Parts: sequence; structure tokens; C-alpha cells
Amino acid sequence: MNVLVTGGTGYIGSHTVVSLLENNHQVIVLDNLSNSSVDVIDRIHKICGKELIFYQGDVRDFALLQDIFSKHNIDAVMHFAGLKSVSESINNPIEYYENNVSGSLSLIKAMKEAGVFTLIFSSTATVYGNPATLPIHENMPTGNTSNPYGTSKYIVERILQDVAASDKRLSVVILRYFNPIGAHTSALIGELPNGIPNNLLPYICQVAMGKLQQLSVFGDDYPTADGSGVRDYIHVMDLADGHILAMNKHHQDSGVFIYNLGTGRGYSVFEIIKAFERVNKVKIPYCVTDRRTGDVAVCYADALYANQKLQWQTRFNLDDMLKDAWRWQQNLAREKSQ
Ligand code: NAD
Ligand code: UD1
Repeated sequence: MNVLVTGGTGYIGSHTVVSLLENNHQVIVLDNLSNSSVDVIDRIHKICGKELIFYQGDVRDFALLQDIFSKHNIDAVMHFAGLKSVSESINNPIEYYENNVSGSLSLIKAMKEAGVFTLIFSSTATVYGNPATLPIHENMPTGNTSNPYGTSKYIVERILQDVAASDKRLSVVILRYFNPIGAHTSALIGELPNGIPNNLLPYICQVAMGKLQQLSVFGDDYPTADGSGVRDYIHVMDLADGHILAMNKHHQDSGVFIYNLGTGRGYSVFEIIKAFERVNKVKIPYCVTDRRTGDVAVCYADALYANQKLQWQTRFNLDDMLKDAWRWQQNLAREKSQ
């Protein structure tokens, strides 16, 4: 298939592009490079030896989308482009709604005009808010979001449902990611956090490098086994595979299909620290601080639906994720010092 990947030079997009190319799809990437670098294209080429078409531009640029759809016979769109920092979204909600909501509207409008009806959308477990029960199943209530980033994703989900209800030609897959971590095993692509990381794994990696002094563990008084927050960490390459399976399964369908992409298993912050130290043989100094506003105690997926419907199975365990994250971080540092 010819697949348009918005945000394809970003963290999850680039790993998915690798999977798409390895599965012999033709890939057209659209990215404005606001949070990624054009080097990623060469790195993808190094990994799989295949070419892709790259457009530097914004998903809100409707004329550009029309041009791309008219030039390439696109069968499906994977929509990763968007902004993803919770703290930034609180300080600049307009930018977040403009990028994430207007960007998605512009894309779906251009798709319909061009007669392209398969869309895979990057959503997040954040749309579940503070879950009433665990594990989190796809049918549980959504919308009780605690920040503009999460709300922007929830709004796009609702828009997509309305649009799909009005036009039966559309097949929309909403993938709710849990906590993507790790990197491609080649260590050629991975996550590039901007400034001081907000997320746990990028922060731990920078502490391990000695770039940051110590990790703050945000609370040890949660009602969990060791008091720290529990999350469902998933290897980014497993996440990438989920996109290909979802596209293959639903390409000819009509309606909205929602899947959690998580492993179904939660790990606490202390468990992550210990496992990172063990597999990578490096010390992570930490201190315990107050809880972070907006954090929930425990969040992990009921991953059965994706497993049964898509035959999606994760290939990587926690040790793999932590090893790959660290290998990527070290490779990046090596490259920078050269
Ligand atoms: P990322 O920032 O690495 O990738 C997003 C890419 O989109 C970047 O390359 C950026 O340059 C590009 N982009 C941003 N706005 C754009 C626009 N208006 N037009 C064109 N390109 C634009 O983020 P990621 O971690 O790869 O996340 C991909 C998607 O998955 C995002 O929509 C994010 O909200 C969602 N998501 C991410 C996580 C996570 O933990 N990383 C969790 C849940 C959901
Ligand atoms: C966060 C976002 C979520 C987003 C996801 C991926 C919040 C409230 N949620 O999820 O919307 O979809 O990232 O981008 O920001 N932790 C520490 N110390 C740190 C960093 C994190 O103890 O320096 C803890 C957190 O309290 C949490 C766990 O580690 O228990 C994971 O945190 P993080 O990686 O930020 O992911 P989420 O909070 O799950």
C-alpha cells in the first residue's frame, strides 16, 4: 500500500515507517520538523535500505495536503503529527488545540476530498483520565482528561467518530498508546526529548549519562505495592507493529475501531529504576519528591482486544526496552562527541 505518515520523522512515527518499509509498503512522510530532524530519513534508510518520499511541511497546510494526495495514490494515512508535552500544553493550550485538533481536521478534510478513507490515529491512554477499575478496557469511559494535551486527543477521537458516522466509506482506527519507551535495536533511531525530559525513561537515561544529577521519584505514597506510580511500558517497535496489523485488518472496513496498545502489565517507578540498573549496569541516583499534579497511581491496559482481533503480540520485554533505550542514548552521545 501507499501510506502517508504524518509526523513520520518523530519518535513513534519513525519506528513505524521502518516497520512499513520492512513490510514492503511505499511510504510518504509529511513532517514540519518541529520536534524531529531530517537526519532521521537517512537513519531509516540505513536500517532498512529502502527509500521513502519526504515532504517538509505542516499538516495544517491544506493546499500542501491536496498536492500530496494528488501526486501519490495514497491508500491509507497514519497520523502521528502533533504536540505531546503535558506541561507545554498547560502553558500554551491554544498551540496544542491548533496543532492537534486543527491539524487532524485539515487532514481528514483533505482525505475525504481525495477519496482516501483509511486513517490510523495516534491517541493515548490519557483519554481514560483516572480509571475507576483496572486493567483499562477500551469500553471504559473517556474524556475526564486533566490537561489540554489529553483533551486535544479526546476531542480528535470524538471528531473522528462523528465524521465516520456521517460517511460510511471511512475506516478509522484509534490506537490508545500506553507508555512507549525503548528504541530500534540498531540504536539509529529513538526518542529525542526537547530540553529537560518530562517522561520517566528519557529522564533516567540522562541521569545515567551524568547529564542530570538525580531522578525525582514523584511520590512514594500511592496505594501501590511500593508506593510509586505504576505504568504499562511498551516497546516502541511493538507499538509500530500494532499500526501495521491495524491497517491491514481494517483497510477495507467501515466505522471506528479502537484498540489499547499496551502490554497489560504494570511496573512501578522503583521497579523501573532497579531493572534499568540491573540490565545496563549503571547506577541511578534518586530522591523521592511530592506527587506530580495530574498523575494517576496506576495505569495499565487490558491488551486482550488487540491481541485477539489483530493477532498483535508483543515481542519485547521490559529488559529489552531498557537496554534499547540506553543503547540509543549512548549512541546519540557518541555521535554528538564526534
Ligand atoms: P514526536 O514529537 O517525536 O513526533 C511527532 C512528530 O510530528 C514530530 O516529528 C514533529 O516534528 C511532527 N509534527 C508536530 N506537529 C506537526 C504539524 N502540525 N505538522 C507536521 N508535523 C508535525 O512524538 P511521538 O512520541 O512520536 O508521538 C507521536 C504521536 O503519538 C503524537 O500524536 C503523540 O501525541 C502520540 N502519543 C505519544 C505518546 C508518547 O509517549 N510518545 C503517548 C501517547 C500518544
Ligand atoms: C505522561 C503524560 C501523558 C502522556 C505520556 C506520554 C502526565 C501527567 N501524563 O504519562 O499524558 O501521554 O506521558 O508522553 O504527564 N515519574 C517520576 N519521575 C520523573 C518522571 C516520571 O517519578 O521524572 C513517574 C510518574 O509519576 C509516573 C511514571 O514515572 O508514575 C511515568 O511517567 P511519564 O513517563 O511521565 O508517563 P505518564 O505520566 O504515564
